[in-house]
Amino acid sequence: MQYEGFFVWEKCVKIIQYMDKIIIANWKMNPETAEEAIELFELVKRGVAEVNGIDVVICPPFVYLPILKGLKLGAQNVFYKEEGAFTGEVSPLMLKDLGVEYVIVGHSESRKYLNETDEIVNNKVIEALKVGLKPILCVGEKDGEDREEGLRGQLSKGLKDISEEEIKNVIIAYEPVWAIGTGNNCSPKDAEKVAGFIKKMISESVKVIYGGSVNSDNSNSYLSESNIEGLLVGGDALNAEDFIKIVKSAEN
Ligand code: PGA
Repeated sequence: MQYEGFFVWEKCVKIIQYMDKIIIANWKMNPETAEEAIELFELVKRGVAEVNGIDVVICPPFVYLPILKGLKLGAQNVFYKEEGAFTGEVSPLMLKDLGVEYVIVGHSESRKYLNETDEIVNNKVIEALKVGLKPILCVGEKDGEDREEGLRGQLSKGLKDISEEEIKNVIIAYEPVWAIGTGNNCSPKDAEKVAGFIKKMISESVKVIYGGSVNSDNSNSYLSESNIEGLLVGGDALNAEDFIKIVKSAEN
């Protein structure tokens, strides 16, 4: 009986350890057609149907948000005004109205190609929270940049005027720029240290996830770390089979 008790205890520890993990797919500007988007989404939906206790979020391009149903959705960007003459932009209210729950802000590609500054990122976080969207705030140092200094700047500016209560609805994605789409992933031990640093700087109650060349072979090594509470997956999220494996690795 003692033996059986041990297994029950071990299982409880595992459930607590993996509780509330979140696996987020960032499809970026893919796939090319609505038909392919639906196909990928439906495959993932079917593949994760039996998975318990893990939040699975798909962030497709804006145009596919209204046609994908049955999994949690996130947008890849948002504007920081609710309505008005802002050609080409999408407001947080519009996303909320579609049933979208999350929104990526400050992704390194938006910082680079759309000139998104920390001040803009901060406005987006504030406006997203105002309507009840959960911002996924991406931070991470560039190649050769001092890690802690880079993070300290992005976090303090990006989260300016966000209260301790509001911070519970923010997810911080640590994505070192040099690790995104390169296959050169940050080691799980380093990512764990950074997650600890972020929690210490911001709050123990903020959720920290890792992103940058995550795949089905390395996902579990991140999720086994206690401060890393989820993953943001780019390239490998476009392969349904791999993404399902990543989600399942959060359950093990
Ligand atoms: P990657 O992208 O998994 O392809 O490195 C991650 C991201 O940009 O969010």
